[in-house]
Amino acid sequence: MALEYTLSIIKPDAVRKRLIGQIYSRFEKNALVVVIAKRVRLTREQAENFYNVHKERSFFPQLVAFMSSGPIMVQVLKAESAVSRNREIMGDTDPRRAKPGTLRADFATTIEENAVHGSDSIETAKKEIAFFFPEFSASCKDHPC
Ligand code: CMP
Repeated sequence: MALEYTLSIIKPDAVRKRLIGQIYSRFEKNALVVVIAKRVRLTREQAENFYNVHKERSFFPQLVAFMSSGPIMVQVLKAESAVSRNREIMGDTDPRRAKPGTLRADFATTIEENAVHGSDSIETAKKEIAFFFPEFSASCKDHPC
């Protein structure tokens, strides 16, 4: 196992429901350390850029509208196998398929309003961390982010 960094987003639905504290508690119970964080509201353009990989998908316009509909909480998580560890505690993208006890099973309402986002690979994590925290990426000479 290797020390990794991953990008996590608490989405507008979960911020509106005041779930930041409960979600941070799940990170900490699962040894995912929050190393840098900020609360931001994305513009439509920023949301389009972040989710650029999905731009041909039918759900892209709704995804962009939702992700720019209110503030989000963005954080870099550090742990052994942080990428897979975070995805495990998030659960399936679709909350109806998410395992009991996962963040999406407990806090998401639909596949669109699904409470959290987490990088799906180390490569994606590097890009997503640089998108939100360029200064953190630039300071990564001594760690693999
Ligand atoms: P996320 O992990 O943030 O990555 C892309 C997002 O697109 C996903 O979570 C969902 O919230 C959203 N989405 C909306 N509709 C769909 C769909 N039909 N299939 C997959 N993702 C979807």
